[in-house]
Amino acid sequence: MRIRTKLSLLTAALIAAVVLALAGTVTVVQRRALQDDCRRRLETLMEGVERIAQESMDRRDRLMLVSYLMVLQKEHPELAAASVTSRGHTSVIGAERPGLLYLARTVSPRRPVTYTVTAYPAGPGPAATVAVSAAGLSLTAAGDATVAVAEPAASESLAVRLGFDNGILDAELARALRPLLRRTLQVAGVFLVLGMLGAASLAKLLTGPLTALSAAVVSVGKGDLGVSVPVSGRDEVGLLAARFNQMTAGLKELMDFREDILHTLTHELNTPLGGLKGYLELWQEKGIPAGKAEQGEVIETMLAAVLRMENSLGSALRLFGPDAAAGSPAARRVVGLHDLFNEVTTLFAPLARSKRIAVVLDTPQGMAYLYAEEEPLRRIVTNLVSNALKYTSSGGAVRLGIEDSAERVAFWVSDTGCGIPAGDLPDLFTKFYRAGSRRAGERIPGSGLGLAIAKKAVDGLGGSIAVTSTPGQGSTFRVTIPKTPHPVGGAA
Ligand SMILES: Nc1ncnc2c1ncn2[C@@H]1O[C@H](COP(=O)(O)OP(=O)(O)O)[C@@H](O)[C@H]1O
Ligand SMILES: [Mg+2]
Repeated sequence: MRIRTKLSLLTAALIAAVVLALAGTVTVVQRRALQDDCRRRLETLMEGVERIAQESMDRRDRLMLVSYLMVLQKEHPELAAASVTSRGHTSVIGAERPGLLYLARTVSPRRPVTYTVTAYPAGPGPAATVAVSAAGLSLTAAGDATVAVAEPAASESLAVRLGFDNGILDAELARALRPLLRRTLQVAGVFLVLGMLGAASLAKLLTGPLTALSAAVVSVGKGDLGVSVPVSGRDEVGLLAARFNQMTAGLKELMDFREDILHTLTHELNTPLGGLKGYLELWQEKGIPAGKAEQGEVIETMLAAVLRMENSLGSALRLFGPDAAAGSPAARRVVGLHDLFNEVTTLFAPLARSKRIAVVLDTPQGMAYLYAEEEPLRRIVTNLVSNALKYTSSGGAVRLGIEDSAERVAFWVSDTGCGIPAGDLPDLFTKFYRAGSRRAGERIPGSGLGLAIAKKAVDGLGGSIAVTSTPGQGSTFRVTIPKTPHPVGGAA
């Protein structure tokens, strides 16, 4: 069973128990109040009967009480029996039987008690005098008077007993209790439903993040590392969600890093391979050059291309590593930009020749040197020249220039190629971005990586790269590298 179902059931059961217990208590209290009410009503009835009994006793009119009781019995069906007893004689209205609820009263007459005093005179004059004082009543007899006090007449009393039918009383009670019970059940029902809804939403609230996490784990299992789950709060589940997001972000970074290395390696090996392929194709077509000097030159160029591939393999890890932007001070040395330009243009010479593109070195200022790492510089120039040749059609021209100053060296690669639409310029240095892919009908193969790699290398050297382009006329990529070596760790 799912946690959510378990939680819902458990909370619902708890709520049901509490609501039912409350409803039960309310019902018992209501029942007791109704019972008290009924008893009070019977007592009031009895009090009325007692008053009439007293009256009839005082008036010595027993019939008065009996007829009152007969009327009462007609009005109150719960009065099953009534009996009146006086002077040993009992009259019963209805039928007395066991199991009735009996209430009884006895009344005595309210008339004063009369004592008769007789005195027999022993001589002349009044035989006795009666004096009433604060101390009470005193009787003084003269001489040997004989005094006799007659006992008052025997006190009579009247007992009246009412018997109520319990069944009728209970039925009345049940009738009175019914609407109250219904009301209580309605309120209990409403609370029960509200409670269950509350329990269900609470369960959902508690287990929702876990369900999302579980779905996210499945996505990660399928290789989608871009997933993240909403962090619901600062409790344990929220913390778990936050840690999960951190984990996927970390994994994604690692995967991206590895992908970067792979892509860079492929790209970096492909460019010199293209140059080598150009030479091999040329020889296939025209045969190997006869002269020893020409052969040596060609072999030197091919060797440089192979060395470049070897270097690329070695430096690829560093290129996208954590401190790629910092560069390595140990690898810095004096690099002649002209030599670098020559090396790159020689590598691409067969390609330029086959496309009938003129490659011109435009360096009127003479030699320019940089104290920097050579590998990133070569990477920048190679990517820019290969792009210029790639995006320029037959008969065009590619120009390379250098501008030397005290603080920085700038170099540019300019072509008369297809140019780049202004809308593409802001994204040009983003990985996998290909401006050409937007142009309908034009499909020059590529990966969209070269400029991103070049930009990364420029950043590593603390420089900047900029592009100006007119669609249909050509493009110019301009790189500026400062001569003061930037501090290690300070990215451009
Ligand atoms: N010299 C250029 N002339 C015209 N377009 C260019 C030039 N250099 C780069 N681009 C455009 O920039 C995009 C990105 O270049 P790059 O990163 O080298 O990738 P790729 O050459 O593999 O497509 C290219 O697809 C192309 O549209
Ligand atoms: Mg390219």
